[in-house]
Amino acid sequence: MYTQAMDSQPKDEREPKAVRSLQEVELERRFDAKIDAGEFIEAKDWMPEHYRKTLLRQISQHAHSEIVGMLPEGNWITRAPTLKRKAILLAKVQDEGGHGLYLYAAAETLGTSRDEMIDALHAGKAKYSSIFNYPTLTWADIGTIGWLVDGAAIMNQVPICRCSYAPYARAMIRICREESFHQRQGFDSLLTMMREGTPEQRAMVQDAVNRWWWPSIMMFGPPDDQSPNSAQGMRWGIKRVSNDTLRQRFVDATVEQAKVLGVTLPDPDLKWNAERGAHDFGTIDWAEFKRVIAGDGPCNRERLAARRKAWNEGAWVREAALAHARKLATRQEAA
Ligand SMILES: [Fe+2]
Ligand SMILES: [Fe+2]
Repeated sequence: MYTQAMDSQPKDEREPKAVRSLQEVELERRFDAKIDAGEFIEAKDWMPEHYRKTLLRQISQHAHSEIVGMLPEGNWITRAPTLKRKAILLAKVQDEGGHGLYLYAAAETLGTSRDEMIDALHAGKAKYSSIFNYPTLTWADIGTIGWLVDGAAIMNQVPICRCSYAPYARAMIRICREESFHQRQGFDSLLTMMREGTPEQRAMVQDAVNRWWWPSIMMFGPPDDQSPNSAQGMRWGIKRVSNDTLRQRFVDATVEQAKVLGVTLPDPDLKWNAERGAHDFGTIDWAEFKRVIAGDGPCNRERLAARRKAWNEGAWVREAALAHARKLATRQEAA
């Protein structure tokens, strides 16, 4: 999912250094040839500094999104309507924690420790997906997140399984398998409410869809013509499919699913365009997207505060684990 902030990298990192040694030029030539041949880059391989930094930023933002994404759903675990839904939601939220773990591990192979990445998140310096700064007001929001947010995540993440950086690609293969379960459980939960629920429950689903639709299609990031770093990401095989293409695929797939559910997508301009063989849709409020990314969404402060609190309250667990590891190492040395 979460590749949108690639487009907001610091200015000093946008251009590679002008002066390079002959050796560096040769190494870069070999690197480019590898990329052109569709080969993967491993952690031990030489890579241009700009490639390393771009990947590190993208993977760490992705990792942060997974663990911040646990928060809006986590607060519904105790309020799930049945034991079955509670077990499913617990498993899903736990999966997201696992996704964070794979991704932090992949990012660490690029030379930054997990502690540094977590510090940057807690200091408000690192970005995560704008979608997790919206509130989950009712139980229908949980099904809608699975259907739309995890659905958009799959659309975004499947092409990253072929990313040129092998540790990231390997992590994404495992993640995508679990994301498809997330999307299906959300759809199933909404379908149950729409088919077997009361008129109030059906209205609750429609209300949740009304609130999540636009933030979900913003998840694909800015339009292609306003996404200046996309071309470099494509050149390097980090990004395989453009933001607008992915967004269009998502809209086309979701319209059909909405029909099965019996909900309306809140866009009066959404209609089939036979000439294009795709759906036209209304204008996205990019000012809102920028505001939320910049830290002023409905829940940005609440999410960061919850993360910091969990980190501080978990300090004793980390200390105990380290003390235990030290004790084991001392014992092994003595043996
Ligand atoms: Fe995930
Ligand atoms: Fe997910």
